[in-house]
Amino acid sequence: MNEIRKKIVAANWKMNTTVTQGEKLVEDILLHLPGELNCTVIIAPPFTHLPMLVKKVEGTKICSAAQNCHQDKSGAFTGEISVDMLSDLGVNYVIIGHSERRQLFHEDNEIIKLKLDAVLAAGLLPIFCCGEPLDIRESETQNIFVHQQLEESLFHLHKDDFAKVCIAYEPIWAIGTGVTASPEQAQEMHMFIRDKIAIRYNKFVSETTRILYGGSIKADNAKTLFSQDDVDGGLVGGASLNSAGFLDIIRAACG
Ligand code: 13P
Repeated sequence: MNEIRKKIVAANWKMNTTVTQGEKLVEDILLHLPGELNCTVIIAPPFTHLPMLVKKVEGTKICSAAQNCHQDKSGAFTGEISVDMLSDLGVNYVIIGHSERRQLFHEDNEIIKLKLDAVLAAGLLPIFCCGEPLDIRESETQNIFVHQQLEESLFHLHKDDFAKVCIAYEPIWAIGTGVTASPEQAQEMHMFIRDKIAIRYNKFVSETTRILYGGSIKADNAKTLFSQDDVDGGLVGGASLNSAGFLDIIRAACG
């Protein structure tokens, strides 16, 4: 286990489960959660589930997260949720810049930067997602691509704010496809990101920043991925919707 960086296992439920189903899932996870939990577990359900989740996990070792937020404080933005609404509920983290938000909802690096600033200003903790599409990986320009995402949305932060950010590297070609990045591919990118953090900030900041991997994580590949030097846990989609599978992934991170 890395002594400097406690691992994080975060569940991104995306647009899945009703509140009733989500409540059952949380209860199952809480029931079997290892007593000695030396990693952080985060659940990001749909917005509608957050009041239930925050209440359920109060006094437990599980943290809550939203999957998105709007960058403005309030106003005429039909259908949107502000960071103040989330912090008022007692939510801990907010996922920012997920590739599905980028691709399906046209969020660019500038919008993601504004969202990140809003999250931090509200006292919430951002999980910043980055990662390249398949054509970029095939042209072997993934480092340039991810570096640009970091530069344009993240590296404007002051060191003290940056220290609150958790990064999730999610190669788009690995999300929901069953094709996981190999442990070597994940390690290579995570090390690259950590190097860039060291250059932009300093060695201490780079060594304390948590960088999660996301993309087709399952119970049977989690341990190898999490054992890479620079992989500090995972952001889990599909496999987090099954309590037994998700608990196995938690054990892989905390074991
Ligand atoms: P899958 O684990 O379903 O590939 O999704 C990963 C993801 O997008 C988590 O945010």
